Amino acid sequence: MGFVVSQAIISVTRLRVVEHLGEEALEVRELARRVGADPDALHRFLRLLVAEGLFVEQPPGVFATTPLGALLHEDVPGSLRHFAALMDNEAYQAWSAALHSLRTGEPAFDVVFGKPMFDWLGERPDASSAFNAAQAGLVTLRLLPLVERDWSGVGTVVDVGGGNGRLLGALLSRHEHLRGVLFDLPHVVREAERSVGGPRDRLRVVGGDFFSAVPSGGDVYVLAQILHDWDDDRAVRILRRCAEAMTPDSRLLILEQVVPEGPQPHPAKMLDLHMLVLLGGRERTESEWGRLLERGGFRVAAIDRSARSSLIEARPTGG
Ligand SMILES: C[S@@+](CC[C@H](N)C(=O)[O-])C[C@H]1O[C@@H](n2cnc3c(N)ncnc32)[C@H](O)[C@@H]1O
Repeated sequence: MGFVVSQAIISVTRLRVVEHLGEEALEVRELARRVGADPDALHRFLRLLVAEGLFVEQPPGVFATTPLGALLHEDVPGSLRHFAALMDNEAYQAWSAALHSLRTGEPAFDVVFGKPMFDWLGERPDASSAFNAAQAGLVTLRLLPLVERDWSGVGTVVDVGGGNGRLLGALLSRHEHLRGVLFDLPHVVREAERSVGGPRDRLRVVGGDFFSAVPSGGDVYVLAQILHDWDDDRAVRILRRCAEAMTPDSRLLILEQVVPEGPQPHPAKMLDLHMLVLLGGRERTESEWGRLLERGGFRVAAIDRSARSSLIEARPTGG
């Protein structure tokens, strides 16, 4: 019944319960009046989400947000509000056909929506903006191992599939000597042109298709949550386009999950199925990463697992 929890989170997010609570503790009838909910139903939704750690009830019938619940507030840095919405909409519908993915190994999304997800998003500006906003919210989770690196001696960073530029903008703001190239599909970078933060004078925006070519001239290439969207053959094509654009001294930094080989629970195991159902992609174990990178023309130089997204550093093998 995991979907009961996720749909409860999505419902209170849509009614902006966290924004209405702010720093206050409110009696449930007053909160229901402010958000436009049925008081008894709101009490029951919140009771479940108290158990999930998003709210506290103290004294009985009076609710406040916890630091975890506050991440759903639209205005906090790294807000997960848009990500919660993304787990509803297309994702939830695609999952209703998960059996198709189990039987065939193909994305259920394509059966439900009639075409691959990125093609579908390309035809729907609102859905595409919502997708990019959700990814930007998650960037806070990926950013730490990247910004904390030693960037001395690096000139230009190319963020391949960089979405709306939140990651690259934050990196350039922290390291003032860096120049950046934001590369993504043409319709995505058109939106990024308007919304990208950070130092615009050091950031160039380029539209294109990473299966055809990626911009050359970078010292560091970043692939953040890109390769997990694709099966091995397509991921290898993206890696080869990167290798072609790089010099022997360039480095590739991959921000992705590394699936543990053992039986323990791990978020990457859930994300792995989500990638299958939505895109036909996959999360990879350390040995799978090694083999994939070798096929793409790279060798693994280091893996930093200190944050929720691991950072895999790879170097071109050349030839
Ligand atoms: C999961 S998002 C990751 C975005 C960003 N790197 C981040 O960490 O938030 C995948 C990105 O790949 C981009 N993308 C998909 N197909 C592409 C293609 N053929 N060429 C270039 N970018 C593409 C999407 O537009 C999207 O921004």
